Amino acid sequence: MALFRAERLAVQFGGIRAVDDVSFAVDAGEVFAIIGPNGAGKTTIFNLVSRLYTPTAGRMIYAERDITTLPAHRIAGLGIARTFQNIELFAGATVLQNLLIGCHCHVRASLAAQLLFLPSARRDELAHREKAEDVIAFLGLQRYRDATVGGLPYGVRKVVELGRALCTEPKLLLLDEPSSGLNTEETEVMGFWIEDIKQDLGITVIMVEHDMNLVRQVSDRVMALNYGRLLALGTPAEVQSHPEVIRAYIGGEVPP
Ligand SMILES: Nc1ncnc2c1ncn2[C@@H]1O[C@H](COP(=O)(O)OP(=O)(O)O)[C@@H](O)[C@H]1O
Ligand SMILES: [Mg+2]
Repeated sequence: MALFRAERLAVQFGGIRAVDDVSFAVDAGEVFAIIGPNGAGKTTIFNLVSRLYTPTAGRMIYAERDITTLPAHRIAGLGIARTFQNIELFAGATVLQNLLIGCHCHVRASLAAQLLFLPSARRDELAHREKAEDVIAFLGLQRYRDATVGGLPYGVRKVVELGRALCTEPKLLLLDEPSSGLNTEETEVMGFWIEDIKQDLGITVIMVEHDMNLVRQVSDRVMALNYGRLLALGTPAEVQSHPEVIRAYIGGEVPP
């Protein structure tokens, strides 16, 4: 069953149709990749799903609920989390502190209860600590737990950002170029984390990615975009050999 559906989705900026009449459905439990040349509209789709942008046409359905006009601050509470093309973490804070910030989107106690440090707020705090420690263990970040994020290698920071998204306990995880800035070895490790997230945590993943090795390694299905339009949708092999996709990449970053 589809966890997320985009129906004839479109958004326009001035004269640019960044996303143009795009429909697709993502099944619960799958890794769904979005590929396409620079400027194809990939990140814009994530900005639509996370409600930073409002579509000019079309609908978005998540868990059988229309989220097309839902306010952005409600999205995390519904179980949708994302990472960014360029890492967005608090560089001056530790790994644990960054993960705790992720956990805080699930505060159940009222503000008054938190200020008074009532039992309900204490329970939240303990649950957050436990969740953050679980994620640290899951992603093998123990030795970086108390390190300041700004001083960590880029590859580790990418994993921390993934961890922060996991702390929100998402059902749908949006990963924007998880391999960007990573070397071949780090990209392979990122691929293993994505596989574990799907298999062990049962989280549905939509991933924007340009590294075709990673796309082949982890994705069940792939959608190719160009100039905001859907070119092809199918298995990684089907999409990679699609004539329109090959044509779109000519002269650019041709996927091997
Ligand atoms: N907020 C915005 N205002 C104007 N143009 C935008 C905005 N966001 C995206 N675009 C344009 O939409 C197109 C798609 O961008 P984007 O989705 O970032 O591409 P990519 O596939 O590389 O992630 C580009 O032409 C970009 O300049
Ligand atoms: Mg992008």
